[in-house]
Amino acid sequence: MKIQKPLILGNWKMHFDKNEVRAFFKNFLDENITKLSKERSLGFAVPFPYLDLSSEILKDSGVLLGAQNVHWEQYGAFTGEISATMLKNVNTNFVLTGHSERRTLFGDTNESVSKRTKAAVSKGLIAIVCVGETKEEYQSGKREEVLREQIPASLAHLKDNDFENIVIAYEPVWAIGTGLSASPEEAESAHKLIREILKTILDGNKNTNLQASEIPLIYGGSVKEETAKALIEQPNIDGFLVGGASLKADSFKVICSA
Ligand code: PGA
Repeated sequence: MKIQKPLILGNWKMHFDKNEVRAFFKNFLDENITKLSKERSLGFAVPFPYLDLSSEILKDSGVLLGAQNVHWEQYGAFTGEISATMLKNVNTNFVLTGHSERRTLFGDTNESVSKRTKAAVSKGLIAIVCVGETKEEYQSGKREEVLREQIPASLAHLKDNDFENIVIAYEPVWAIGTGLSASPEEAESAHKLIREILKTILDGNKNTNLQASEIPLIYGGSVKEETAKALIEQPNIDGFLVGGASLKADSFKVICSA
């Protein structure tokens, strides 16, 4: 599967019951979305129990199906974990790795994020690798330092063509769920820096012709109907990862068409 830019993904986190999933898609899927999904990539990272149902509903819609986490092994004694093979088995297209909630609440490290990402891309999933600085790091001017460390370390297990199947989501932790979005200028400057970091990584990888400009960079953190347009107009912002506003079909439709 080839990702198109712009790429606009919802992250439902731990929300909805089965009926709400059905009702959401009934409201969301319409002619305009079918048309839009031919020109851009639209998708949802849903909770694991709704993957199968969502896959049925989204079949033929052009809208992508995603999960929110993946383990690095394919089978085994890993209670509570889900493998890339299992995700593929229920028609999942992409998976989030290293979301800040996984890093801060569930102990994910750059090393485990890198292993999860490698497992995902090896099985043909697109990995949406999430990075971003915390509020303290932001306030003490450490954003650049954090990104320069976090990105190579979160991609350390990738080789050769693996980079063709990743997307980087820049999600400043201070902007997630807080209503405090990064300004378009601020987000653009972080994305520019990320592009530069990716260039250095790819320059060191002789077995791929991929250019840093080809890796989609999406922004996440309180993206709303009102803020989407100015953000997407920035040259290095290729789309969004949307939490709260992806739970309301009408709001998310506006963001998808920004
Ligand atoms: P938010 O979440 O849009 O609610 O800030 C974004 C995310 O966590 O991916």
